[in-house]
Order: sequence, then structure tokens, then C-alpha cells
Amino acid sequence: MIKETLNSSMMFKASKNEIVNFEVIDLRQFGLGPRKQVDDTPYGGGDGMLMMIEPIFGAIEHSKKLSPEAEVILMTPAGDTLNQSMARDFASSNKDLIIFCAHYEGYDERILSIIDKKISIGNYVLTGGELPALVLVDTIVRLLPGVLGGEKSAEIESFSQDGIIEYPQYTKPREFRGMEVPSVLVSGHHAEIEKWQNENYRHQN
Ligand code: ADE
Repeated sequence: MIKETLNSSMMFKASKNEIVNFEVIDLRQFGLGPRKQVDDTPYGGGDGMLMMIEPIFGAIEHSKKLSPEAEVILMTPAGDTLNQSMARDFASSNKDLIIFCAHYEGYDERILSIIDKKISIGNYVLTGGELPALVLVDTIVRLLPGVLGGEKSAEIESFSQDGIIEYPQYTKPREFRGMEVPSVLVSGHHAEIEKWQNENYRHQN
């Protein structure tokens, strides 16, 4: 799931252009014994299996060898909720991130001792941290200089810290099933167009 997504769209472009470097680390590589065990039954009983601390520490310590200063992040609904200004801070910090994707509530609690920051992508629960980690990576990577491309996009982006996202846009055809493109946009009056665009910025919910 992770490799496939990192290999598409903006994230692919960013790594191809060496603006960002991704290392995907498979926890099983740090599993115990010949069967590379990564989970076990919980002490005190209960359903399901828990991700064990040794493989997790193994994977994170391995990652720290690659980047000793990296910040270690756990994706969890119990974390601080991701927003645009957080993404902006990560993007401008130039810091490496080690993002640990766990099964929701399915890990040995002692892993928290190696975590610097917990991040949630919203007030709902997913089965694992993979999709949240990809959301985090995407929000950050698209803000890195050179990734977005195009002056206009970058200019619009500069407003987004105030919760403003871009104005409505249209392309051909000029009329579709009775829905017309606002006439000012096809008027050729640049000052009027700019005025319309400025008046029609939308706000994030
Ligand atoms: N893991 C499960 N649900 C999550 C969420 N909402 N945010 C981050 N990680 C999660």
C-alpha cells in the first residue's frame, strides 16, 4: 500500500527529483525467530494479537541509524490532529521523519517510550496507520519547494495558512448541460478576472 502510493503522483515526482527520499521499512524484517514473529497475545487476556515491542524498536532503531536526528511519529487517533499549519511546519523544518504505522490500539504500550510525537488525521478510527501516514506524507511533500510546480499554484498555496483555499476554476466546454462558465472569466479583462478571483476564494471548513 505504501510503496504503491509513494510511487504515484506528487510523491513520485518529488522523490524522482530528489526533493524527498523515502525509505519503506518492513517490520517483519525485524521479526523474532525463524517465522519472523511480530505480534503475540496480550498479557491479561483479551482478543487479538498485539504488535511486539522488539520488532518495533528494531525497526525504529534501524531507521534512526539512517537518520539520527529524525523525529519519530506514531499515527494514532489519540494524537494532535493534523492541519495545514502543522504540515507547513514539517515542510519548512527540513527534518527527517520516521513514521510508525501501527494497527490501531494493537501494540505494546511501551513503544510510546520511543515516540516523539503522536499525530491523528481526524476524529475517526482506521484499522491501521498506513493510510494516515500517507496522508501526512502527502500534505508535507506537496509543500516542499519545487514539488507543486507552477507559479500560480504556489501563490494560491501561500494563502492556505489563513484557511483560504483557491477560487473556483473552469475549463472547456464553456457551457455544459446548461451550466455556464462565469462570463467574467471569458471576458479577457484581466483586472476584472483578478477581482472576481479575489472575491471568490473559498474557506476551509
Ligand atoms: N490510526 C487509526 N485511526 C487513525 C487516525 N484517525 N489518525 C491517525 N492514525 C490512525
